[in-house]
Amino acid sequence: MIVIDSLRKSFFLHLQGGVTLSVLKKISLEVKAGECLALCGPSGSGKSTLVRLLYANYKARDGKILVRHQGQWVDMVKAELRKVLEIRKLTIGYVSQFLRVIPRIPALDVVMEPLQREGIAAHNARRHAEDMLTRLNIPQRLWGISPTTFSGGEQQRINIARSFIKPYPILLLDEPTAALDATNRRVVVELIQDAKERGAAIVGVFHDEEVRDAVSTCIFEMTFDGGQA
Ligand SMILES: Nc1ncnc2c1ncn2[C@@H]1O[C@H](COP(=O)(O)OP(=O)(O)OP(=O)(O)O)[C@@H](O)[C@H]1O
Ligand SMILES: [Mg+2]
Repeated sequence: MIVIDSLRKSFFLHLQGGVTLSVLKKISLEVKAGECLALCGPSGSGKSTLVRLLYANYKARDGKILVRHQGQWVDMVKAELRKVLEIRKLTIGYVSQFLRVIPRIPALDVVMEPLQREGIAAHNARRHAEDMLTRLNIPQRLWGISPTTFSGGEQQRINIARSFIKPYPILLLDEPTAALDATNRRVVVELIQDAKERGAAIVGVFHDEEVRDAVSTCIFEMTFDGGQA
């Protein structure tokens, strides 16, 4: 589902004397359906950068990031914006390490939106969203409120609910359990196991060793001078 070949990424810091920061050097890896690859390595080694490159939030310097989309390989390094948006809608779900700006709309609507965008009837989408929110222990009194004022762990669970409500073929999970208590961590582990069983290909960063051991099928060790399998 994912093939990364000789991927390199550096940041050019215009405002800081034009310093170039080389973060990823020649990364190559593969993830098949039903696998969960855990990215490991010290803080600053480029784990989140690699996840963002997979989501085409960042552009690579060179190399390839091939993802399987609707039966075809698409290179996320070269894909046009329109293609990237289509892939995010249909193929790749992403739980970010730091919360994306959550719009000022009720939590329930935030969670059901990926289904509605696909044309699923509102009452069905709502029922699925309610099930997800219940499973992730978001109290019903919060469902009608915008997540902007939610606690860190509540916001993270909204992000998770939104990314797992649809069976995305590829999931990118950047520390999805970082702000969660033990009960909710277990729920997320179950969601990840279910996703693997239905054949999702997952790339994740799991700070928590217990979570990582429970869900990962392979480990990719990142180092400061590139990564190695
Ligand atoms: N947008 C950016 N502009 C400049 N430098 C960046 C940018 N994003 C990341 N970096 C740099 O790239 C390096 C890797 O950052 P990244 O966030 O990928 O690390 P990480 O492995 O996810 O760390 P952590 O475990 O702390 O989350 C860091 O040195 C960081 O400063
Ligand atoms: Mg990170």
